[in-house]
Amino acid sequence: MSDVPSFSDALAHVLAHPQAAGWDAAFRRRFDTYFPALFAEFSAVYAGHPAFLRELAEAVNCAASSYAERSAELKALDAAREAEPNWFTDERMLGGVCYVDRYAGTLKGVEDQLPYFEELGLTYLHLMPLFRAPEENSDGGYAVSSYREVNPKLGTMADLEHLAGTLRRRGISLTVDFVFNHTSNEHEWARRALAGEKTYEDYYLVFPDRTLPDQYERTTREIFPDDHPGSFVQLPDGRWIWATFYHFQWDLNYANPAVFRAMAGEMLFLANRGVEILRMDAVAFIWKRLGTPCESLPEAHRLLRAFNALCRMGAPAMVFKSEAIVHPDEVVSYIDRAECPISYNPLVMALGWEALATRDARLLQQAFDRRQQLPPGCAFVNYVRSHDDIGWTFADEEAAELGIHGGDHRRFLNGFFVGRFPGSFAQGEPFQENPRTGDCRITGTTASLAGLGRDPDAGIRRVLLLHSVALAAAGIPLLYLGDEVGQLNDPTYLDRPAEAVDSRWVHRPFRPDALYGQRHDEGTVAGRLYAGLRHLIALRKATPAFGGTALRGFWTGNRHVLGFHRPERGGVLVFANLSDETQVLSPERFGALPSSMRDLVGEEQVILGDGLTLPPLGFVWLAPA
Ligand code: GLC
Ligand code: GLC
Repeated sequence: MSDVPSFSDALAHVLAHPQAAGWDAAFRRRFDTYFPALFAEFSAVYAGHPAFLRELAEAVNCAASSYAERSAELKALDAAREAEPNWFTDERMLGGVCYVDRYAGTLKGVEDQLPYFEELGLTYLHLMPLFRAPEENSDGGYAVSSYREVNPKLGTMADLEHLAGTLRRRGISLTVDFVFNHTSNEHEWARRALAGEKTYEDYYLVFPDRTLPDQYERTTREIFPDDHPGSFVQLPDGRWIWATFYHFQWDLNYANPAVFRAMAGEMLFLANRGVEILRMDAVAFIWKRLGTPCESLPEAHRLLRAFNALCRMGAPAMVFKSEAIVHPDEVVSYIDRAECPISYNPLVMALGWEALATRDARLLQQAFDRRQQLPPGCAFVNYVRSHDDIGWTFADEEAAELGIHGGDHRRFLNGFFVGRFPGSFAQGEPFQENPRTGDCRITGTTASLAGLGRDPDAGIRRVLLLHSVALAAAGIPLLYLGDEVGQLNDPTYLDRPAEAVDSRWVHRPFRPDALYGQRHDEGTVAGRLYAGLRHLIALRKATPAFGGTALRGFWTGNRHVLGFHRPERGGVLVFANLSDETQVLSPERFGALPSSMRDLVGEEQVILGDGLTLPPLGFVWLAPA
């Protein structure tokens, strides 16, 4: 195409229209470093678009002016992070996640929890979406009506900035969501689109009739079928609009470069409020093409890289974390220093539960053997559960190697975790059960899924076991706050109409004050669990081998026992028995290892020459004696 601008044309155009503010030497240096990448991604997606040069120049200027407005403290952080780009792989990292209203009422209330966060050892706090959102139904805040206003029930933008600063000074990095695939239908852009303003209609994907929606739906999957079938909802005027998730969450049209530029502005605005880790929500869905699943298309990656290049220029301290809860090959496709250096680890999360249900660690072992090695400078977030449902996202072809049929196995797991399988320990609930496709996911707090309500002893051991894996794996461990004191499911969500339609609310309870009150009393279930977790957290923070990202699977020769090695900086060997029976590993397994090691968890010598005996649901962290 003749109208594709060359790199030098684009560079000349951008430099001819600099906004004076922000183009200081530091910005210019980063511009020179990252503009080539920005140009490459932007032109691969938008070349040929009439607004190409204008939007590109505006996006860069937005980064420049946003950098100019950045506080001295954040600029100091920029320098510190540039000097130490792998800061988030430190063994002292520990994340926590909570809803502002449910955990602490308001942002000020979150600040009052600081002593507890420090007691726990948090260095990263993910506050669930806290922006202006529709009153009643907002998908827990994931329907954003303004990226620049805090939900008035929770506080103000000034409160958020204050909190971010207070956290930072105590060594805790604030994480918030960038819900950039969609806005709520009450966002100003959405209202203006609905009112017929062409500029804003182009921000969304609106269709006059069902012709194209029907064609797209031949290959897209249904995410929230309880809410609406397919990927589109009908507007009052009869037209159809793309809505992957709830009917009030309208997907943005990233084929329009103005949308990219506008959302880059919102992103940089958040960065300047003091956000250090930006959770990139629903990354897989941002680009659509007819005849494809409209998930994880190449353009989705390009757009993330373009956002990242702008972030490096305008807010270098902030890093992206991807939320891609998809096939494991796709999960890793987002993980790259130039894209999202941090990612959820949904495979290990789901397979931990899978292994507890089956008492068979082989699929989990396979994940540790093959799928935990990331590009340099990248890290997983290791978690036991999140605010979302659990889907069984393992690779069917890898399960088949073990003689496991993916579809049948998922049906078994769903039945097991919602208590429909005889003898199951779990007390979860189904989510978005789709009788038409047979698809289903599960919900429940960690304690409830682990059956702690039925059998506290075994429940505590299961919860500790899963956390021992998350804390020892490579990356950042992330706790769902409340889990550390064994909070159970909250069935009262059924009494609140806006929540009753979405069973994820069963595992998003209010802060369990009574359980927290018992946390130092080891005569209570909460106290036992808390003491166990605190012990593991303290060990992780004190053990350099848990820093960095090196990890190797260690085949134990016993299908019930997971093994892996954190080989660097002293090294630690991790073994976990996923079964309810004692397991013995024979001494030949340990041929190459020193005969005597120290179990950090049990604080005792282990003579590997005698083999290793693991009690039911037991685990060890072995370090050189
Ligand atoms: C992400 C969130 C989920 C939300 C969806 C739509 O997957 O984790 O809670 O429903 O995006 O924003
Ligand atoms: C789907 C999406 C995931 C989202 C979840 C919410 O699984 O792939 O991104 O978090 O739905 O339930």
